[in-house]
Amino acid sequence: MSHRVNPAARLRGELRLPGDKSISHRALLCAALAEGETLISGAGDGHDVRSTAGIIRALGATCERLPATPDDAPGTARWRVLSPGRSGLAAQGDGALDCGNSGTSARLGAGLVAGVTGTHVLDGDESLRRRPMTRVLEPLRAMGADATGAAGERGETAPLRIVGGTLHGTEWRSSTPSAQVKSCVLIAGLAARGTTTYIESVATRDHSERMLTARGASISRVRGADGGWSISVQGGTQLRALPQVQVPGDPSSAAFWLVAASLHPDADLTIRGVSLNPTRRHVIEILRRMGASIEETPRPDDGSGEPIGDLRVHSADLHGVEITPQDVALAIDEMPILSLAATAAHGASSILGAGELRAKESDRIAGVADGLTRLGLTVRVDGDDLHFVGSERSKGGSPEVRGDHRLAMTFAVAALVGDGAVEIDDAAAAAVSYPTFFDDAVRLAGGAEQGARA
Ligand code: S3P
Repeated sequence: MSHRVNPAARLRGELRLPGDKSISHRALLCAALAEGETLISGAGDGHDVRSTAGIIRALGATCERLPATPDDAPGTARWRVLSPGRSGLAAQGDGALDCGNSGTSARLGAGLVAGVTGTHVLDGDESLRRRPMTRVLEPLRAMGADATGAAGERGETAPLRIVGGTLHGTEWRSSTPSAQVKSCVLIAGLAARGTTTYIESVATRDHSERMLTARGASISRVRGADGGWSISVQGGTQLRALPQVQVPGDPSSAAFWLVAASLHPDADLTIRGVSLNPTRRHVIEILRRMGASIEETPRPDDGSGEPIGDLRVHSADLHGVEITPQDVALAIDEMPILSLAATAAHGASSILGAGELRAKESDRIAGVADGLTRLGLTVRVDGDDLHFVGSERSKGGSPEVRGDHRLAMTFAVAALVGDGAVEIDDAAAAAVSYPTFFDDAVRLAGGAEQGARA
């Protein structure tokens, strides 16, 4: 499905976003790990989250989608999960678990099935089969799991074959900052004898720690001498189901509008109910360093266990920035849209040490550089660094989305704030995380003739 997105005359209005993708996956997985019933509302309705719903169903949990209510934000889903708890789950039939395009389903799912009876095969689409999985298989093997992957260019990859069984605790130091690896190890640690400790050099998103603790897991977090964190989980605890779970808006989806409104000369957007979790809000800090005008109004606790708030963003005069490897780790999913911000900001910008972007749904260094170049913008790649001259506006064109949702939305924003229409070759890719993105684009731009979908 291809879409032509036109420059927007203005970007004004309010929006509510689909539920946070990371929290939605974990809400389903936690519901499956705990015995009892959980009602999840506000979950992201992207394909990735549906893959995780399919996985827990295939393991024997009841996972039904409930009809939407008038209170539900567009692009969200309600789920009812009824689970016998981890010890009651088991591989069914040939043990096939379809993760689609979703690295989170595969990596967190690997941690789950390592403690679930039977032989499981986690597989997915072509993109998933290229993504590195040794990073989760190694710690699972260190915990005693029989876990193997197919041989890929970057080590082992999907399909992953994991025989669920008895695990033992371990101490694992990750060489890559990754919340997916951390979550895989912590989830497997619940099924292990003794203590499992995961050591990370940068504080990655902490939803698993928050959500497992809220369901009765014993998790402790200690700051290391090197500034990193050591997170431990005690094995053998039976989790309790939380009856109601509310998923807040996704800050990674908000990032597209934060950049769009900052760059557009006539913009004023209010984004309601976004997670402002300290491990997810770093994109706001980077944009503020660039001169963005973003106001935050905290909201009372909505029971999600996450700090949430409303964001208001206006047109601003952004200036260049140096994005360090630490910034990259803290805002990994926002690098494509921040790259667009860097092309337009006044003065040069760099994104340094971004090699991990090559291991996402596509090689995002290549995809961003190639796509933005096709829009007439200047990006220089030097190893794992990206450099931008700044003060440029997209002239429009036909970039390649490469099946990557975040590239599709980045190029669409380039059209909204730029000087020429952009032909998005695979607009459907956005539905992986933000199925209503193009509808929001049309509405905020003031209608089809002004904004998207000419
Ligand atoms: C995620 C962690 C990040 C992120 C991904 C979601 C998660 O991946 O890029 O979109 O939910 O834990 P890594 O752990 O590979 O950095």
